Amino acid sequence: MRRSFALVRIPQHVAIIMDGNGRWAQRRGLPRAAGHRAGLKSVRMSIERCTAVGVKVLTIFAFSTENWRRPQSEVGLLMSLFLEALDAEIDELASKGVCIRFVGARSHLAPGLVARMSAAEERTRANSGLTLVIAMAYGGRRDIVEAAQRLAVAVRAGTIQPEQIDEVYFSEQLALRGLPDPDLLIRTGGDHRVSNFLLWNLAYTELWFTEQLWPDFSPDDFASAITAFAERQRRYGQTSAQVSDTAC
Ligand code: IPE
Ligand code: IPE
Ligand code: MG
Repeated sequence: MRRSFALVRIPQHVAIIMDGNGRWAQRRGLPRAAGHRAGLKSVRMSIERCTAVGVKVLTIFAFSTENWRRPQSEVGLLMSLFLEALDAEIDELASKGVCIRFVGARSHLAPGLVARMSAAEERTRANSGLTLVIAMAYGGRRDIVEAAQRLAVAVRAGTIQPEQIDEVYFSEQLALRGLPDPDLLIRTGGDHRVSNFLLWNLAYTELWFTEQLWPDFSPDDFASAITAFAERQRRYGQTSAQVSDTAC
């Protein structure tokens, strides 16, 4: 009884740290770029699965502020791949009703890529299916710092009073404004860390880690994550008994 109730509890918002592309390639004696390319099919599968099970928002970590520190050749390859993937997938995503949103700093990205990103957002803005957030040149600390800067400017201009800044107001300045916090974070690749992903928004997110490398992430792995989530009890600081009372 409890189990069947739990199984229908689908996360509204899933976030994914898609890690392990490089190792996937290296284990096959291939260049790291081959792993990034192979990871695309896991992205497609995740979008399809999220839509199928009723997830409303999927946020994927494509490139972190720290990833700029990688060898220039790998960064260049990743950027070309993003551009190529966006061009190849946009028609299908748009036709499936996916609403695309990019978060992260666009200032260091190539103008051609930024133009495609904005065009994809514009084209899919009114879509009412899955919201796909792509974190591109995103860093959780930077997101928080930029929010603080915006608030400081507003206080200096006299548009708001410092006392008005509460958690809700603050979160409205962050990149994921208007979206619910992630309910479930999936990280592939075996490492148990958040690597400067959505630091603020992950405060009460359920974390799920797998050894699977991103290109190997399968529909069964996705289902395991969803099932694990459904079986978790989210207490938000309360006791187990309090939460069970509310559930009944
Ligand atoms: C994740 O895979 C993709 C990006 C960070 C862009 P990695 O490239 O980090 O793969 P590993 O962790 O080195 O295997
Ligand atoms: C996290 O993976 C960033 C993305 C998946 C885009 P990394 O491979 O960059 O993370 P670390 O360096 O192992 O923490
Ligand atoms: Mg990695």
